[in-house]
Amino acid sequence: MAAVEDVFHPVVELPEPVRAERYRRLVGLDDIKDRLRREAQLLADPTSLRAWSLEHHGAEVPALALFADRGPLFVFAGDVGAGKSALAESFGCDLSDVLNLPVYLYRLKLTARGSGLVGEMTTLIGDAFGHLLALGRKARSANGPTTLYIMVIDEADALAQSRAAEHMHHEDRAGVDALLAGVDSLAGEGVPVLVVLCTNRERALDPAVMRRAAASFRFGRPNDEQRRVVLTDALDGTGISSAAVAKLVAATGSVDRQAGFTYSDLTQRLIPAAILAAFPDKPLTEDILFAIARDLQPTPEFREIGA
Ligand SMILES: Nc1ncnc2c1ncn2[C@@H]1O[C@H](COP(=O)(O)OP(=O)(O)O)[C@@H](O)[C@H]1O
Ligand SMILES: [Mg+2]
Repeated sequence: MAAVEDVFHPVVELPEPVRAERYRRLVGLDDIKDRLRREAQLLADPTSLRAWSLEHHGAEVPALALFADRGPLFVFAGDVGAGKSALAESFGCDLSDVLNLPVYLYRLKLTARGSGLVGEMTTLIGDAFGHLLALGRKARSANGPTTLYIMVIDEADALAQSRAAEHMHHEDRAGVDALLAGVDSLAGEGVPVLVVLCTNRERALDPAVMRRAAASFRFGRPNDEQRRVVLTDALDGTGISSAAVAKLVAATGSVDRQAGFTYSDLTQRLIPAAILAAFPDKPLTEDILFAIARDLQPTPEFREIGA
């Protein structure tokens, strides 16, 4: 089995202040955050569902069986710059606080792809799950897990392509199969490992991967209120008035059929460009912000072929 550092980016122990702050600042994702927390609670204490059923329904309801062989796989799909990577790499901070457990973040290196060696992708995925399964086994104890592990597979469409896709290479199919086998191995052993798969191209994902997922979440563009919150947060301390922010909210919304700004259009394009327009000899003003907003085109919506 390949060494951990060949398979994963440097492992991160959570909570960690920068990521905890990033998690708190993510806007519009409360439902997803809440669901992830509940799922992690189940992993941390598998008996808690039974206890819930006994308390609220006086018996173990048959529906609990539906949880028995769910794979601990969560799909983050949707628009670019919507917080998929940011959430995947930070929600462990919240889990660590809530569950009072150390959480380790393992981010898969998908760099091996395209190097041309047959079997390389399969080996990478297999080794990744092998490492997590071994860690997860060690983290089990009679009183529940001592550690929680999160494995993130970002930009996963490269890996989990539809088996039906025309340009499917043998190697891609093997990657998907390895992924499914890996998720099943975790589910079968009930180890404290969550797997998050991020993709901008949900339709490129194999239907078998989607079926295997315990939940899939769709990330979208911010609405007016969400843009207001992001802009207010980003402009804190600059003296830009809330009336000016309201105008910026309108200027960054959708016009006719064109989509509005993404979250990252606001935080990584608009605000930095405006600050650099003022820097180094002027303060940031609403005129500068409006001028930049007017010139910026929102990131085009990703349209899937056949969508
Ligand atoms: N929901 C959000 N709330 C606040 N800021 C966001 C949100 N989503 C994205 N951003 C900003 O955009 C940046 C890029 O987001 P990222 O998670 O990389 O997007 P994705 O992985 O969905 O393409 C983040 O670091 C953050 O500054
Ligand atoms: Mg991303």
